Amino acid sequence: MYLGIETSCDDTSCAILDENYFVRSMVSANQDVLHRPFGGIVPEIASRNHTLVLLPLLDEALNQAHIKIQDIKGIAVTNRPGLLGSLLVGVVTAKTLSLSHKIPFIGVHHIEGHIMAPFVSDANYQQPQNWTFPFLSLVVSGGHTSLYLVHEFMKYELLGSTIDDAAGEAYDKFAKMLGLPYPGGVHIDKLSQSGSTDAYHFPRALIHEEGFNFSFSGLKTAAQNLLNKMSAEEKQQSINHLCASYQKAITDVLVDRMKKAIAKYNVKSISVTGGVSANSYLRSEMEALAKSCGAQFAVPPLRYCTDNAAMITRAGMERLKRGEKSALDLKVLARSEIA
Ligand code: KG4
Ligand code: ZN
Repeated sequence: MYLGIETSCDDTSCAILDENYFVRSMVSANQDVLHRPFGGIVPEIASRNHTLVLLPLLDEALNQAHIKIQDIKGIAVTNRPGLLGSLLVGVVTAKTLSLSHKIPFIGVHHIEGHIMAPFVSDANYQQPQNWTFPFLSLVVSGGHTSLYLVHEFMKYELLGSTIDDAAGEAYDKFAKMLGLPYPGGVHIDKLSQSGSTDAYHFPRALIHEEGFNFSFSGLKTAAQNLLNKMSAEEKQQSINHLCASYQKAITDVLVDRMKKAIAKYNVKSISVTGGVSANSYLRSEMEALAKSCGAQFAVPPLRYCTDNAAMITRAGMERLKRGEKSALDLKVLARSEIA
């Protein structure tokens, strides 16, 4: 049995996975309501709350898996990138457990966790079978928008990433402009379902450029300029169309990059992970793309899209099983490239 801890941002999560990457338990606490009044994450509030809830969550994860800490063979903990105060809570806890119970532990890169999210199983989800390498992994979250060519697990080639805002950030900022609660992506997703994707035209940056980078700050400015010209009543009446058109602009760019990369690298399997992979339109468009290219498609179930400890445990297990482990002086890092 392996334990994983995720506290890199505003979600606190503990998970226990068995040798076959089956999630025996996962318990998470979400802080959305605490940050909502500020329209974004307040780092101090995030770290304080991790300290309050992490140990009770750990107990609950062990209880639900019907095991004791002594049954844990290895611990995985997110140590980079993220909010320093938040990361510290998880890392200090993992180090303490490691030291006091003599269990090896490993620091995990948060994005490596997202990439590994589809490769766990539980009672309602089975990890993909006969998965082929290399595969393309698009990680789209509140802090990252990156496309990787994964040669094998733990061996990544970054093909492109955002040069300004992340896709999730573009969702959250637009939601804020519309007066929707934080985090906004899920609200835009819901409202879009009864809106027209062609009602408004938003820019698709870099779509005619070579390479695989992304840019979403122009989209945000275009949206702000459009909303500035609309009355409050107009905005309210057209909110579904605004959301659907904006969501399509983001999705078109993500799908375009994936399509180009499939052709260039001739891959037969693709995955989309990270908080934005919960987006229903993105999921269906990527699935359609995979089908049209004859590629396998993996996307995590919703519970493993946003930040969670199952994906961190999965990534850590891959490294622990290869004999890697971290030392007690492991540092936390606000920024870090995956390696
Ligand atoms: O991976 P995640 O939980 O945290 C980071 O590591 O950033 O991603 C959070 C992001 C937020 O920007 C949120 O608005 C977005 O994922 N998100 C969505 C949806 N659900 C969450 N964006 C679009 N559609 C959704 N259904
Ligand atoms: Zn994340």
